[in-house]
Amino acid sequence: MRIGNLTFSPFNEKTPILTLAPMAGVGNWVFRLICAQLGAKIVGVEFINCRSIHTASQRDLQMLDFSDASIYEKTGISALSAQIYGNDIELLAKGGCEFERLGAQIVDINFGCSVPKIVKRGSGAAYLKDLDKLYRAVSQMVSAVSVPVTVKTRIGWDNDNINILEVIKRCEDAGAKAVAIHARTVVQKYKGEAQWEWIARAKENAEIPIIGNGDVFSIADAIRMKTVTNCDAVMIGRAAMANPWIFSGRDTASLRERIELACQQLELMTKFKGERIGIFETRKHLGLYFKQLPRTSKFRKQLLTTECLTSLLSLLRNSLETEFADKKSNNLSLTKKEAGALAWGGTD
Ligand SMILES: Cc1cc2nc3c(=O)[nH]c(=O)nc-3n(C[C@H](O)[C@H](O)[C@H](O)COP(=O)(O)O)c2cc1C
Repeated sequence: MRIGNLTFSPFNEKTPILTLAPMAGVGNWVFRLICAQLGAKIVGVEFINCRSIHTASQRDLQMLDFSDASIYEKTGISALSAQIYGNDIELLAKGGCEFERLGAQIVDINFGCSVPKIVKRGSGAAYLKDLDKLYRAVSQMVSAVSVPVTVKTRIGWDNDNINILEVIKRCEDAGAKAVAIHARTVVQKYKGEAQWEWIARAKENAEIPIIGNGDVFSIADAIRMKTVTNCDAVMIGRAAMANPWIFSGRDTASLRERIELACQQLELMTKFKGERIGIFETRKHLGLYFKQLPRTSKFRKQLLTTECLTSLLSLLRNSLETEFADKKSNNLSLTKKEAGALAWGGTD
């Protein structure tokens, strides 16, 4: 797959080209780097509002920390895609320039977010109702930056207004280099099934790469999406939160691997965000990496409530193996129910 000047190939013969979806509250540099090392070929930064880039608070500054990008530049293992959203086309383009200055290798525009307060302000999926504005936003971004510009969107507003084919045409005309499609409508949020047939139709019609997204919960799902839609790459969101090894083509990881990864993630996150927030933000992953522990177990409670890094690392390194002695399953693929619980406020 080629996106502008960047070329991508699968991590190994078992997988299609796999990418990490942009996820608010998840796509920080620590998790991106973990996924890149395990085989994600593009890693998405959580989305950033075009208005907060120049008036950045402490939290925004952390979102703008693209320190992992230089590793990808040097090694070529992955590429950093920074996503922007907003209703002001000038500010979007200005923000794109800032992303590029900070090291982003791809600038991605969000036209898929269905969170009501964002859509109401004319951002995210609101652009699906105004394709002239969408065209101008992409066009202006393409003129403003020298890195490739991509778009992430949904298939349309609702089932009576599916306009993904026209959206892609407008993006191509404006100079976008790839489109990622979460194959649901805006009103669908996360409900029902992702409608992969629209990814297939988009791919048939498009001249630029199409990245398929939605309801890939295991490596078998990723292969099936590639086979049935012929998409150029498969983007993975929620399943990666539970199983970053999916990018290596695996639904399983040994207990030792999970312990080591959890410790590494906690150490880096606490360096990056401080002990309290670093641990707090890693908990959602810990619960998923060790999901075989019964909900009611005392140990699980400790894992998800301990606030001191040293105690947490010692718990993981010294006690976990005993807790897991009788648990044979190493499977980390998401069930539909688990995926439903991770849906982003029921929206994106
Ligand atoms: C916690 C969370 C945060 C998300 N944040 C974003 C975001 O910042 N930008 C975006 O385009 N999509 C966002 N999404 C949507 C995902 O990128 C993806 O399109 C969606 O989860 C479907 O893919 P999946 O079935 O592999 O999870 C988010 C999803 C989740 C679960």
